[in-house]
Amino acid sequence: MPLDRMLGLFETARACMPVVTGDAAPRSDLAGKIIANVFLENSTRTRCSFTAAAHRLGATTIDLLGGTSSASKGETLLDTCANVAAMGVDGLVIRCSDTCGPAAVAGALGLPVLNAGDGKHEHPTQGLLDAFTITEHLGRTDLAGLRVGICGDVATSRVARSNVFALTRLGADVTLMGPPTLAPDDMATLIDGLDMPGTVRVVHEFDPHLEQLNVLMVLRIQFERHGGGGVPDDYRLHWGLTADRAEHLPEDAIVMHPGPVNRGTELDDAVCDGPRSLILQQVTGGVAVRMASLLDCLGG
Ligand code: CP
Repeated sequence: MPLDRMLGLFETARACMPVVTGDAAPRSDLAGKIIANVFLENSTRTRCSFTAAAHRLGATTIDLLGGTSSASKGETLLDTCANVAAMGVDGLVIRCSDTCGPAAVAGALGLPVLNAGDGKHEHPTQGLLDAFTITEHLGRTDLAGLRVGICGDVATSRVARSNVFALTRLGADVTLMGPPTLAPDDMATLIDGLDMPGTVRVVHEFDPHLEQLNVLMVLRIQFERHGGGGVPDDYRLHWGLTADRAEHLPEDAIVMHPGPVNRGTELDDAVCDGPRSLILQQVTGGVAVRMASLLDCLGG
């Protein structure tokens, strides 16, 4: 996403925050519009967040969930979405396991489509809301010189990919951290050719890098995507952000996690619920970023 569009989204999200927190009245920008949430993979945060965002803008929503829809009978993503679109909806929010599934639907149907996570590929609004949370915490949108670690199950993480694109666009230097099975070296090439002001690298050690980080984003181990292999049995010992390990971060460093958290595996309770954690701020900011995203795609 171009920098000016991202900063415009952040500005809109900032203006939406009082609506999200209940300190300002809901808006009516999308009154009369119907948005369909097509979620063929499970979700708590993203689906509720898009729903809350739509309602705060005056839209109504339809929820179509994988397990209870005819997708479970073998209907394709495109057929599912074409049928929902034929009911006259104004936009679709799609989570699916197909890489680029939302883009294919958008191309075929000519409707506004927001990608709510497509397989291991991208989760754009998560990348945006994470970057927004960081910029709001720091009070600046230029992240030049900021050192962000993204640790854990990077290989299967659409969150990591979208964060790399968003954060390096803003100038941050991102270090992807994990054992080689979970953080493959070729992920250092993610932004090759994209002319980003920030950088990305991959390391296979955790402890020696902690004291250099301003932000540590801990990823969920996605056991369901590994088929029983790839995750070391002693993961927590070497890669879990324990309370002891968090002591080695700089005093003002912050900890983030996109959720859901495997407590006691990648993140200890004391850190998850501690003063460094911005995890619930990510969720609140996420509604504002999704309001801004809906306005960007459907508002005009
Ligand atoms: N962060 C995130 O995508 O969470 P959900 O899977 O609960 O939507």
